[in-house]
Amino acid sequence: MTARSPYDTLVTVYGGSGFLGRHVVRALAKRHYRIRVAVRRPELAGYLQPLGRVGQIHAVQANLRHAGSVEAAARDAQVVVNLVGVLFERGRQRFDSVHAYGAEQIALAAHAHGAHMVHVSAIGADENSPSAYARSKAKAEQLVWAAQPSAAIMRPSIMFGPEDDFFNRFAALARLSPALPLIGGGLTRFQPVFVGDVATAIADAVDGNVRPSTIYELGGPDVRTFKELMQFVLATIERKRLLIPIPFFVARMQAMFLQYLPKPLLTPDQVELLRADNIVSESATAEKRTLQGLGIEPEPIEAIVPSYLWRFRKTGQFRSRTA
Ligand SMILES: NC(=O)c1ccc[n+]([C@@H]2O[C@H](COP(=O)([O-])OP(=O)(O)OC[C@H]3O[C@@H](n4cnc5c(N)ncnc54)[C@H](OP(=O)(O)O)[C@@H]3O)[C@@H](O)[C@H]2O)c1
Repeated sequence: MTARSPYDTLVTVYGGSGFLGRHVVRALAKRHYRIRVAVRRPELAGYLQPLGRVGQIHAVQANLRHAGSVEAAARDAQVVVNLVGVLFERGRQRFDSVHAYGAEQIALAAHAHGAHMVHVSAIGADENSPSAYARSKAKAEQLVWAAQPSAAIMRPSIMFGPEDDFFNRFAALARLSPALPLIGGGLTRFQPVFVGDVATAIADAVDGNVRPSTIYELGGPDVRTFKELMQFVLATIERKRLLIPIPFFVARMQAMFLQYLPKPLLTPDQVELLRADNIVSESATAEKRTLQGLGIEPEPIEAIVPSYLWRFRKTGQFRSRTA
């Protein structure tokens, strides 16, 4: 992969319109790749255009549940990147159809067209997990390697950045609610990772500078419990709220109802996910299958999150008291 010039290299990015997607597209555009963004609604992906030069980024229609569209989007590409994922199931968007079947179709198309593949999974992917999300992510990894054995796999922990769904969601909840929930007591450990660092790792993989057939685990510099992350959110948005421990079984019962909201606040499957720590494994660290192993120094949450959570403060970007 290293011998090619980026100017002559077409990279198809499936899911390029998502949270991670826009950062990956920006990173690839800066490195001068030609980028084809494969999305379900290309007419809604216009906001990606300013991330590159005129004509550098082109959106096409593809739905991972339809093999023909996946194959068409991979034609003439030298590298394909799969960023497609769903956090909850809705209609025909099932974990198995999108994560497992969809990833397999991309890998088959990559193999058929002789393209390299970078696949994004998630820390916690485990075929024995009680969570269907985590099981489908593990199945996807197996299916990808069966079809395209050289694929590099990236498993991020929870990602943060201006458009994230984690810090923004709890900051928004804290604005409205007098309390924040600590599911399972808030003891689950996370290693939040900056979305820009994950995008850099993916761009390095597209450059051919990561080990093929390898799973990388991408975490930030610090491990924090859920409770510590909620305390960090409250300190950042300068609000005092109660932190109420909620046992897993109670959270699961609440999630039974919350899952039917248009954009569910919590699903029973997410409660299952929260039972396991979401951190980089010791083996990944020892084998340098990490951001640091790729020479990327990950950003801490303190360096990035306040730059976009200020809007949840009572005083916005202004200080309530001056010196
Ligand atoms: N966010 C995190 O903290 C986190 C942590 C660990 C792992 N991950 C993984 O990282 C990847 C990217 O996550 P993200 O946060 O960027 O997700 P996201 O913002 O929800 O983006 C997902 C993308 O997938 C596309 N998509 C969904 N269903 C599709 C389908 N059937 N066919 C084609 N495209 C489809 C979406 O486009 P449309 O729906 O508009 O078509 C969107 O572009 C996912 O694999 C996710 O599981 C995320």
